[in-house]
Amino acid sequence: MVHYSKIEDTVPGKPIAMTANWNSDDPASQNRRLPRTLVCCSALLSLITVIAIAVVVCTGQQKGAVSRAAEGQKPRAVPKRLVCYYSTSDADALRLLDVPGDLCTHINIGLASLDNATLWLGPRLRQVLQNETLAFRAAHPQVKLLLWIGGADSGSQFARMVANHAMRKQFLRSLKALLRLYPALDGIDLDWEFPSAYEKERQHLSQLLYEIRQEWRRERRPNALLSLAVAAPEGIAFYAYDPRQINLYADYVNLMAYDFHFYREDTPFTGLNAPLYAHATDMSIMATFNINYTVHWWLQNGLEPQRLVVGLPTYGHSFTLVSPWNHRIGAPASGYGKCGQYGFTTLSQTCECAARYLKPLYSYDTETCSPYLSGLQEWISYENQTSIACKTNYIKSLNLGGVMVFSLNTDDLKNSCRFLATSGDNKPVFPLTQAVKGILQGEGTQML
Ligand SMILES: *[C@@H]1O[C@H](CO)[C@@H](O)[C@H](O)[C@H]1NC(C)=O
Ligand SMILES: *[C@@H]1O[C@H](CO)[C@@H](O)[C@H](O)[C@H]1NC(C)=O
Ligand SMILES: *[C@@H]1O[C@H](CO)[C@@H](O)[C@H](O)[C@H]1NC(C)=O
Ligand SMILES: *[C@@H]1O[C@H](CO)[C@@H](O)[C@H](O)[C@H]1NC(C)=O
Repeated sequence: MVHYSKIEDTVPGKPIAMTANWNSDDPASQNRRLPRTLVCCSALLSLITVIAIAVVVCTGQQKGAVSRAAEGQKPRAVPKRLVCYYSTSDADALRLLDVPGDLCTHINIGLASLDNATLWLGPRLRQVLQNETLAFRAAHPQVKLLLWIGGADSGSQFARMVANHAMRKQFLRSLKALLRLYPALDGIDLDWEFPSAYEKERQHLSQLLYEIRQEWRRERRPNALLSLAVAAPEGIAFYAYDPRQINLYADYVNLMAYDFHFYREDTPFTGLNAPLYAHATDMSIMATFNINYTVHWWLQNGLEPQRLVVGLPTYGHSFTLVSPWNHRIGAPASGYGKCGQYGFTTLSQTCECAARYLKPLYSYDTETCSPYLSGLQEWISYENQTSIACKTNYIKSLNLGGVMVFSLNTDDLKNSCRFLATSGDNKPVFPLTQAVKGILQGEGTQML
């Protein structure tokens, strides 16, 4: 059934040419679904029947949509997702099989990209999918595994893929083959950064979501998961997404509620990666760059609360201070910090850097639930268990769809911060992700 040979034969680094059994538009396969009794009806009866079927199919689809929508509003025990991103790009530091099975409810494994509307997987990602996902699935059947597609530089790849029916179909074809090849996958997470205001990209995205659902209905995958990683800033989200269409076709969105401040030439100040609320120094549009504003924007614009999964970072951002004596939030900065790469620091790197400074100054901004530290000219916005707990409690109090963590790889795998008592077995640890989990699970809230 699965054309392993064809796909295996492709050279790593080349897009997978997908040819497997694409016949969902084949009229013969459609006809097979009609009840046999209809075949021998008179012409009139056939006509009536066709209309009746059309009605049934249409209302069935609407009902599907409505029941999907209503699902989120049922006052049942609130399912709390804990969606974790896992990158295979440093699979040496963290193997999928080292992720505890009781940590995350969903793991987005990536990063897959698009090449001319065809899914493209690098060799390490393929190896993890081939080699580890089935073992992980067998050990932890309750955890959903999704393929993470897109990422930071995916704007033009997606724009090209959604632009017309032929390209979207090309994508669906490669997706179909990929889900057959890696049966441990439960679905996909589309991380298009970001649909623009031009070329009707918002409508094309909605159309893509619809077509993926249609295709999965044809393939009898009613439980396949479709999520979207979405932008937090209103200025992007307003043009990029139609939340009501997302309600109809996506299971949930992963709101990237971070990167609100980092060093840029046009914003040369220190700032917090993921402030819960606006800070007193945030002027005009900067006052919208926080978790609370963003969450309300999505809710006010019609996304069902149960579909809103709010992302929290485990990584931080480093800055170089203009003056070591001016180390408040909003202080002048002259560049990325020395810690990490391009100002992006894993939690282990943050604590390793901090240990190198003679006397790092640790601060906590209670207004925004965010710690930061400075030493000499280095300034780092990061998260610790207190800030993560504060933000998770906020998300929980609004009864949203759960928490997303970006990423497992950037949590304090090495326990360099000593947030956890050392276990001594050298296994990676996840102090921040564990903290999220502890709060989501507290007070009898059910994990999905
Ligand atoms: C991209 O894919 C389309 C549709 O399959 C095909 O017609 C076209 O030749 C491809 N272009 C390139 C540059 O590969
Ligand atoms: C995965 O592949 C590597 C190298 O190809 C191999 O050494 C390892 O044993 C495999 N692991 C599993 C769980 O199959
Ligand atoms: C959170 O956001 C809402 C909507 O923008 C706003 O009305 C509210 O004042 C904010 N809360 C705080 C504490 O800033
Ligand atoms: C988080 O950081 C702040 C500031 O350093 C500190 O007061 C707080 O105790 C830290 N939380 C934990 C759990 O270490």
